[in-house]
Amino acid sequence: MKIILETARLYLREFEPSDGVHFYHLNNDEEVIKHTGNKPFKSLKEAMVFIENYSDYKQNGFGRWAVCLKKTNEFLGWCGLKLENNEIDLGYRFYKKHWGKGYATEASLGCINYGFSTLKLKKIIGRSHIKNEASICILKKCNFKFKKKYVYDNQPAVLYALINDTN
Ligand SMILES: CC(C)(COP(=O)(O)OP(=O)(O)OC[C@H]1O[C@@H](n2cnc3c(N)ncnc32)[C@H](O)[C@@H]1OP(=O)(O)O)[C@@H](O)C(=O)NCCC(=O)NCCS
Repeated sequence: MKIILETARLYLREFEPSDGVHFYHLNNDEEVIKHTGNKPFKSLKEAMVFIENYSDYKQNGFGRWAVCLKKTNEFLGWCGLKLENNEIDLGYRFYKKHWGKGYATEASLGCINYGFSTLKLKKIIGRSHIKNEASICILKKCNFKFKKKYVYDNQPAVLYALINDTN
């Protein structure tokens, strides 16, 4: 197990092949993927292959990570960074039963701290569909600043950004 960072209640680790089952179940929940632009995996096998081929850690030195509860080691969801079109994006997705407990905010703050302090990133962006109020709430709580409204995945969306002014 490769742990990347810890917060008060959580640890974030690199994905493991067995996480495919979680990706399958997460994306099989209509409510979870409602604002993400993703479709459910066609099969468990497809989700397992997706995880096996996940190459961000090798390619970029970071990626999305599994978020687990320290107390029980339970997989709660994922959170992390993604390099896309020369920008680094913060993303998160949790099982519905774990929404509203502050886990996404806590994990996001951990990722931002890791991104700025360890990876020495200059900027992290956050994208969200306008209707995804929980997601926008997290960005605001993490001190991201509103940049613009635009269209993402054919939906009205907002772009936020957080600048690292410590280096
Ligand atoms: C977005 C998501 C990760 C939030 O996870 P979470 O662990 O519930 O988030 P947190 O508990 O840390 O914080 C959510 C905040 O949003 C607020 N919130 C939730 N629903 C809201 C709504 N409809 N309107 C306004 N605020 C809302 C909560 O009150 C909370 O703020 P608070 O702590 O100040 O009360 C979770 O809902 C999820 O997995 N959604 C599906 C995937 C997704 O949409 N990802 C983002 C794509 S851009």
